[in-house]
Amino acid sequence: MGNFSKRSFLLLAFYSLLLIALVACNSSEAKENEPMDTGLDKNEFLNIAFKDQFPLQWESYMENMINQKDVIPKSDPSIEPYLPALWSGYGFAIEYNKTRGHTYALEDQINIRRVTDKTGGSCLTCKSSVVPHLLSDEEFGDGYWAANFNNEILPRITELGAPGVSEELGEWGHISIGCSDCHDPVTMELRVTRPSFTNAMERMGVDLSQSTQNDMRSYVCAQCHVEYYFEPEKNKVTFPWDLGLRVENIYEYKETIAKEQGFDYDWIHQISGTPSLKAQHPEFELSSYGPHATAGVSCSDCHMPYQRVDGKKKISSHRWGSPLETIEESCRTCHGDKTPTQLEDRVKDIQGRHKVALLEAQELNTISHYYVNRMITAGVSEEKIEEAQQHVRKAQWYWDFIAAENSYGFHNPDGSIDAFRISSIESQAAIVMATEELAKLGEDIEELKRQIEVTMQAIYDEEDHFEKHKRAINEWFPAQY
Ligand code: HEC
Ligand code: HEC
Ligand code: HEC
Ligand code: HEC
Repeated sequence: MGNFSKRSFLLLAFYSLLLIALVACNSSEAKENEPMDTGLDKNEFLNIAFKDQFPLQWESYMENMINQKDVIPKSDPSIEPYLPALWSGYGFAIEYNKTRGHTYALEDQINIRRVTDKTGGSCLTCKSSVVPHLLSDEEFGDGYWAANFNNEILPRITELGAPGVSEELGEWGHISIGCSDCHDPVTMELRVTRPSFTNAMERMGVDLSQSTQNDMRSYVCAQCHVEYYFEPEKNKVTFPWDLGLRVENIYEYKETIAKEQGFDYDWIHQISGTPSLKAQHPEFELSSYGPHATAGVSCSDCHMPYQRVDGKKKISSHRWGSPLETIEESCRTCHGDKTPTQLEDRVKDIQGRHKVALLEAQELNTISHYYVNRMITAGVSEEKIEEAQQHVRKAQWYWDFIAAENSYGFHNPDGSIDAFRISSIESQAAIVMATEELAKLGEDIEELKRQIEVTMQAIYDEEDHFEKHKRAINEWFPAQY
């Protein structure tokens, strides 16, 4: 009996301790996991509304406004000199600039010359935190996508975001890309707000409710940093991922599924008459088969690294820019065996080789457009012209997909070089075909080459960026569309 009671006492004591430990554990866990309640409206979209509760993230977010005042055209001779010919006949040939940061996205969109009185609402989709609200039934609902940008969307967002509501964020920064795009305003959990992403993932069989926090650290970016097109029926932003995320999968999609829907091309090329495809910023897709994403590294690991601010506190950086400015926090957490200089040199080396291949592919594609132009004016058969145009279209897609991706090859060095190689082969194929057909008609190929050179030089030398596209066509190479 004595023995028993002693044993049961010990057991009881053991279980009590266990229970206390469990309860203690539970309560501390409950505290950590307890959903935050900011007290903000669940549909809040003004960035300024988050300022007081999250001063450290706010301060970091405000750094997006620093040193980013200049708009730099990408057709600058030092960057990609032949863009005005490569996109001839399309808005991008008139104005296309380097990225300037999240807080400027909306201002830059409103001011760019590509927006015309025909531009649809869809164009706002990756630029402003009011988009989810505009998509609600209270506002435009599904009519948002096709609503007129200048006449319907702009007046409405002017009312909703009354300019000047935040002087520190400039003219439109208060409703440019911001907190509510990536965070639930009440709980601050990461969330996806753009239905195009959710729909595309569903079609690929991915259940977003099962995403890990690490997935979400890329998915919040992937709602915008992706390739898309406007599905013809409703002008709805659609991600062409059904056949996979690689450059070749998406080309295949555009040649099959998109065409079945009635989407054949983004524009007809003015020089070669080619029905052409324009790629948008596919950072998520291209990086998905690069060395980092395949090793499970998320966008935020490099672009939103933990930083010590305020002397001691650690926060995620909310300044989105070049990770080369934060190598210590962005890279050396994993690559501690390399010095910052070694890491930077590796990136510059990748980007240097990338640029050589990019310029080569762009130059060849430009030349191929002029060869096809000559096929048309010299009277080569329709059938041969179309065959050559098919090569030119594919070449355009393969370099543009990589060039429109903003990492200059870093996110996926091999995938980029492979795509440039395919692009160059396709352009060459068009040039060879054209040369054969033109020779049959007794055309002077040497003179053609000379005229192409003169024309490309004129584009290069034109100092006014808004005039460059006009130098792409002339008496020798008249517009085909
Ligand atoms: C709501 C859409 C949207 C979301 C979400 C978004 N971006 Fe962006 N991002 C853009 C747009 C649009 C630009 C170009 C802005 C401009 O140039 O005016 C951009 C530009 C950038 C730039 C270039 C900045 C510069 O200074 O040139 C980086 C880097 C970037 N984003 C990273 C990210 C990362 C990382 C994420 C996810 C954590 C993310 N973005 C989420 C739309 C978005
Ligand atoms: C482009 C997406 C994006 C935008 C815009 C954004 N955040 Fe974040 N935020 C993140 C990511 C990613 C994390 C890291 C979350 C994690 O891994 O737990 C984060 C983390 C946070 C955290 C948790 C603490 C920390 O620093 O890690 C707070 C608080 C926060 N953000 C506030 C804000 C506020 C306030 C704004 C607007 C001024 C904002 N965020 C805008 C993506 C974003
Ligand atoms: C392993 C680190 C790493 C990861 C992961 C990563 N990036 Fe990058 N990113 C870079 C580097 C390095 C550059 C090149 C910066 C430069 O040229 O100065 C870059 C460039 C960019 C740029 C252009 C920045 C500018 O200044 O114009 C954007 C936009 C971008 N990344 C978005 C993303 C998105 C979206 C993801 C996830 C799908 C992602 N990145 C994943 C390291 C990374
Ligand atoms: C979360 C961890 C992590 C972060 C952060 C990270 N890397 Fe990496 N990095 C990796 C892994 C894992 C690999 C793949 C190693 C392999 O496959 O052998 C890799 C590979 C590389 C490679 C070789 C790529 C190739 O083509 O073979 C370079 C260069 C590199 N990283 C540079 C960087 C730079 C620069 C940064 C910061 C902008 C960075 N990494 C940030 C984990 C990381």
